[in-house]
Amino acid sequence: MTSPRNIVILTGAGISAESGIATFRGPGGLWEGHRVEDVCTPEALADDPVLVHRFYDARRAALATVAPNAAHVALARLDAEWLGELLIVTQNVDDLHERAGAKRLLHMHGALRSALCAGCGAQETWTGDLPPGSLCAACGAAKLRPDIVFFGEMPYDMARIEQALAAADLFVSIGTSGAVYPAAGFVQGARHAGAETLELNLERSGGSGYFHETRLGAAGVLVPEWVEQMLAS
Ligand code: APR
Repeated sequence: MTSPRNIVILTGAGISAESGIATFRGPGGLWEGHRVEDVCTPEALADDPVLVHRFYDARRAALATVAPNAAHVALARLDAEWLGELLIVTQNVDDLHERAGAKRLLHMHGALRSALCAGCGAQETWTGDLPPGSLCAACGAAKLRPDIVFFGEMPYDMARIEQALAAADLFVSIGTSGAVYPAAGFVQGARHAGAETLELNLERSGGSGYFHETRLGAAGVLVPEWVEQMLAS
């Protein structure tokens, strides 16, 4: 393969596991006995806003106790040094990619350090607790909610993601189980566009069969090795 010009990288909870953030479907993927799926729904937010806001307050507060790991740092280095197109699409809502220095990054499932107005749709940076009824800075309504894309809601930036996949020469998936769409389908879109596809994951995933190559191991080991390889090519 000639050196790829356009790279799209998808990351999931597995890239943050070595930073101490529990994945969703692995051991420890529960919060106070709640499966994440039971808390990340519009219905849960409507039925029990205090519980859902408290869940995200706890995860937002926990960000202060974790740091980017070698995989986040390696991706940020690739982002800084790669001369072609590059886009990191993360499913994660933590801020570890940003804290490692990534710039060409988007959060398709939202972000813990952001609040969304259910009234006017404005987003604002939010770092502390977000009690139900918090006021929106843009419209003043008491309708701020966690800026998390819940199950059944449309992920962010899908048009930009599809455009990047259509132009990709290389699609790399890191630390995701391939359990949730539309992210789980990105590999097929990339292949259809003629891209090489590579999976870096601790274990085989639901999507492994779609990748040209799968490397099994910890992201903290595989990602720096892969970035070295890319920058040397
Ligand atoms: N290095 C690499 N991969 C790892 C590591 C590690 N250290 N630890 C775990 N993994 C892998 C697991 O093998 C698994 O395949 O990361 C994947 C994590 O899968 P999930 O827990 O399902 O997380 P993710 O794929 O990001 O979930 C997707 O589901 O709950 C929703 O919106 C939520 O964004 C999330 C989406």
